[in-house]
Amino acid sequence: MSIAVFASGSGSNFQSLVETARREQWPMDISLLICDKPGAKVLERAKNLEVPAYPFNPKSYPSKADYEREVLALLEQYQIQWIVLAGYMRLIGPTLLQAYGGRIVNIHPSLLPAFPGKNAIEQAFHYPVKVSGVTVHFVDEGMDTGPIIAQVPVEIAEEDTIGTFTQKIQQVEHWLYPKVVYDLIIGKVTSPVSLCSAKRDKE
Ligand code: GRF
Repeated sequence: MSIAVFASGSGSNFQSLVETARREQWPMDISLLICDKPGAKVLERAKNLEVPAYPFNPKSYPSKADYEREVLALLEQYQIQWIVLAGYMRLIGPTLLQAYGGRIVNIHPSLLPAFPGKNAIEQAFHYPVKVSGVTVHFVDEGMDTGPIIAQVPVEIAEEDTIGTFTQKIQQVEHWLYPKVVYDLIIGKVTSPVSLCSAKRDKE
């Protein structure tokens, strides 16, 4: 049993997850990276960390379902139990939700439900709010809408620039995400599987 990380970008959260899991000898490996952006920096990090990485080009599939079916086959091959989204810039579709509902988590750089979607750090900084933060949540069919597991506030101080504020958010992400993922895999946080499937049944 193991964990797959899905990422599209730089991969700093992917790296902190892999390094923490190894350092703390988690009972489950991060054994797979799924990337939907060929050439993304996260692929370089996976190579350096020796984690098998699979770059996909979703646009080359006839439909999202076809793309996700191929990803699903890979997840089954690796006996993946948890999907951890770390900067994966794509909504999870019904194929993966039906297979992994309640076992997919995401990290978002704001205090949801404020500032969902892209550029959440910039949105909060320019609003301007005094406090934003980081949220880890279960994934459902919406954009950044699933049940919240953990939130940590991050202050926007008078002297902060977008650069310093971004750094403060990233610092929190890099300890919070490994902590929450660890709590999930050891069963300290309970997955709301029934909640996710109840929502699906209504559709
Ligand atoms: C993070 O801010 C995360 O919260 C968001 O996407 C960003 C990914 O950053 N979902 P990185 O690729 O892990 O550096």
